[in-house]
Amino acid sequence: MSKKRIDIVFGTRPEAIKLVPVIQRLQQDPDLLPRVVVTAQHRDLLDQILGPFGIQPDIDLDLMQADQSLNQLASKAIQALGASYERDRPDLVLVQGDTTSAFCAALAAFHLDIPTGHVEAGLRSGNRKQPFPEEANRRMVSAFADLHFSPTATSTAALLREGIPEKKIFETGNSAIDTLTLVLETQDLNEPDKAEVLVTLHRRETWKGDSGGSFAGILNTLVDFAKSHPEVHFLYPVHPNPNVRGPVSAICQGIPNFQLVNPLDYVPFLKAMANSRAIVSDSGGVQEEAPSLGVPVLVVRDVTERPEGLFPGGNRLVGTEAQDLKQALQDIFEEPRRETQGFPQPNPFGDGQARHRIHGAIRHFFFGEERPEPFLPAPSFE
Ligand code: UD1
Ligand code: UDP
Repeated sequence: MSKKRIDIVFGTRPEAIKLVPVIQRLQQDPDLLPRVVVTAQHRDLLDQILGPFGIQPDIDLDLMQADQSLNQLASKAIQALGASYERDRPDLVLVQGDTTSAFCAALAAFHLDIPTGHVEAGLRSGNRKQPFPEEANRRMVSAFADLHFSPTATSTAALLREGIPEKKIFETGNSAIDTLTLVLETQDLNEPDKAEVLVTLHRRETWKGDSGGSFAGILNTLVDFAKSHPEVHFLYPVHPNPNVRGPVSAICQGIPNFQLVNPLDYVPFLKAMANSRAIVSDSGGVQEEAPSLGVPVLVVRDVTERPEGLFPGGNRLVGTEAQDLKQALQDIFEEPRRETQGFPQPNPFGDGQARHRIHGAIRHFFFGEERPEPFLPAPSFE
């Protein structure tokens, strides 16, 4: 029997973090030939993740260009990926999440009648423009995909509602929790020297101000809070996007307890998360990781496609208005320090075993083996 060729395609930091355990699991199967294909529009952030995990891309399309538009990136990616698939004819293309790389990889595969598997399928905010363009990207990938790896019962339910056949959906948990769990098994994340508030903000609707509040308003709120609470140490690893860096440099520099740094490597970032009292973020992945670390995320967005994290003591959807963020920070700093035991076990997003279920589903697809057990039982719909 010839080995089944799987092209795992991605281009950004969060995809890399979530696909690392999946790649490692597929590499262990002698019946499979997984190849890592990177579009690499996150040249710096991607290399920062792949290096420490020892993942060497088989194909690097190197599509990074400073501040490029979505259409520039998409057109280059579809063309380059199409040529790569035509040359190597994978039996399956694997994509993750909701980025331009995921959408283009799935579309290019569909055009060539190559099946696609979608890791982290079925997340829905219900608002086509938030996050933009990610909500639309993931809906479009669902339209092309043959295998839907939904992380939770909520995402399974969303896919079923949209008419995706149940037999094509595999509820796996989110592989972000595999990556995190693998780190937690080998490293102590506690550090004596801690930041109290960790900040990450990078979404288009945040810096464009397309949500309720403005980016400047959010940044000024953080800075004002830092100035009025000099004992609270803020740490902000700033995304390399020039649309983020510009306003952050203009507004947040020169405040002694507000530290601006370059994006952190994955494990140092987890340490910063684990040792914070609160995280202010519009990130998707950070919302998923935080419950494992016992730290609440103040989600600076109007909607989230990750409602599983919104539980008492957990993440809080604070919106994008300055006043609401200020109030949320005040609430946190008036409360006694939270302990991890208060958080649900396991993490509602995953149990660290998603890679095995994804691998099992792929074997089911290729070789007709039994379906893997789901992460959580899917809700039934009449
Ligand atoms: C993309 C994803 C988004 C994800 C985010 C993670 C899409 C449509 N969006 O955001 O879902 O949350 O990545 O970070 O795919 N830059 C560098 N070096 C890097 C990375 C970025 O210089 O390593 C600069 C470039 O000028 C680049 C700009 O930042 O053009 C924007 O990058 P990024 O924010 O990653 O792109 P998005 O599409 O906004
Ligand atoms: N992350 C990191 N270093 C940083 C900031 C984030 O390693 O300085 C990790 C974080 O732990 C999470 C992922 O990057 O796994 C989230 O990426 P990002 O917020 O860029 O994208 P999103 O999840 O919003 O798509």
